Amino acid sequence: MTMNEDMMDAIEKDNVVFLSTCSDDIPNVVPIGFARPLDDETILLVDNFMKKTRNNLEKNPRAALVIRDASKCPYQFKGTVKIHTSGELFDEAVDWATSVMSKLSPKAAIVFKVEEIYSVQPGPDAGNRVF
Ligand SMILES: Cc1cc2nc3c(=O)[nH]c(=O)nc-3n(C[C@H](O)[C@H](O)[C@H](O)COP(=O)(O)O)c2cc1C
Repeated sequence: MTMNEDMMDAIEKDNVVFLSTCSDDIPNVVPIGFARPLDDETILLVDNFMKKTRNNLEKNPRAALVIRDASKCPYQFKGTVKIHTSGELFDEAVDWATSVMSKLSPKAAIVFKVEEIYSVQPGPDAGNRVF
């Protein structure tokens, strides 16, 4: 198992994650509301308004995220994204986003495959890899 039940539950319930990307010298971070686990190693993010984020991901698909209330889920997730602009996952992203806000017109499903997980819990384990 990559993400455990508590991690998946926290991502599902907290309504914002912070997504960090980088393609050149300058890191970028944005709050993302449409983020939910698809399974224990995959998080679906919806691109509604991404600009620098999308540009970065097209050049460098590696990204990192933490959830807004990191005290409830003190982990840093690192992985690689695939950008879907059609197909089943894109349709799922569109259905989800438009069911919450009918005016949205999502541009892509950003499918984040979790490859590494680190603790950010203050204390001696901070920064240690847990997966
Ligand atoms: C609370 C909150 C939730 C947001 N959720 C999303 C989202 O789910 N998808 C999205 O594409 N942008 C979302 N945004 C907008 C992005 O944070 C950001 O403005 C957008 O990606 C443009 O920034 P960028 O040029 O750095 O990518 C959200 C913003 C806020 C404040």
